[in-house]
Amino acid sequence: MADETTKYILVEREGAVATVIINRPDKLNALNWALVGELADELEALDRDDAIHAIVLTGAGERAFAAGADIAEMSDKSAAQMAFGGFEGWDHIRRIKKPIIAAVEGFALGGGSELAMHADIVIASEKAKFGQPEILLGIMCGAGGTQRLTRTIGKYRAMELCLTGEQVTAQQMEAWGIVNHVVAAGQARAEATKLAQKIATHAPIATLLTKEAILAALETPLEAGLAYEKRVFALLFSTEDQKEGMAAFMAKRPANFTGK
Ligand code: COA
Repeated sequence: MADETTKYILVEREGAVATVIINRPDKLNALNWALVGELADELEALDRDDAIHAIVLTGAGERAFAAGADIAEMSDKSAAQMAFGGFEGWDHIRRIKKPIIAAVEGFALGGGSELAMHADIVIASEKAKFGQPEILLGIMCGAGGTQRLTRTIGKYRAMELCLTGEQVTAQQMEAWGIVNHVVAAGQARAEATKLAQKIATHAPIATLLTKEAILAALETPLEAGLAYEKRVFALLFSTEDQKEGMAAFMAKRPANFTGK
């Protein structure tokens, strides 16, 4: 764990939006094991917090979202340590139920790019650089890169990224469908926050189930996915927020969602 004076993760709150900041700028926010554990803990705490409806995830400073797993920490690890030691936090991060919007300034490399792909929406600065340089270190993606890239940008682009280790621009990632919006340098957090605030005004249960259903689409055949969607769609008619949302529409007034 981080020593008592070090906090790798900062959390700032504004209304129903929490911003989680990876705070290790002197090392380009490289992801050591303690940091990933702390990140998972903070995200899980926010997931349990009814006052928070959406999360922005970003890196401290303008140089990096995260420049990957911590190479110095990993360099002398054994296969057994890597298999059983350092990856638990990632499994927690991918199970977060609330929407996560990544705000990427600067480098999102290796585990940093993979972390951005754990988010649900990605906003990147025009100067951001993405890449999977693990191959240059004699290793490969270990936090989902080969799987999430292939599902999103396809086999051929994933192969090029992972086999060459080259960095690509935010504009390229936008064209390939990983980045939602490219924004002016220095504006990623502000733009991600605007989006998060909009999402945070919606009915919370419908939001959680929408995220769950979209993620399920990556893992289910279409028939099963459609059946699942139909069930959770019907389930929303048991919520007070469905009654409120539709009553508000018909009364031509803003809805007052309560998360019930
Ligand atoms: N792990 C550990 N430390 C890292 C790191 C990482 N993934 N990425 C950057 N750092 C550290 C550097 O060691 C340096 O620390 P120091 O000042 O104590 O020497 C500091 O962050 C700044 O990085 P530096 O390399 O000096 O910046 P740069 O502008 O010259 O280069 C990068 C930027 C991103 C191109 C370069 O840091 C890099 O290639 N990082 C590794 C990327 C990578 O391979 N990630 C996948 C890991 S599996």
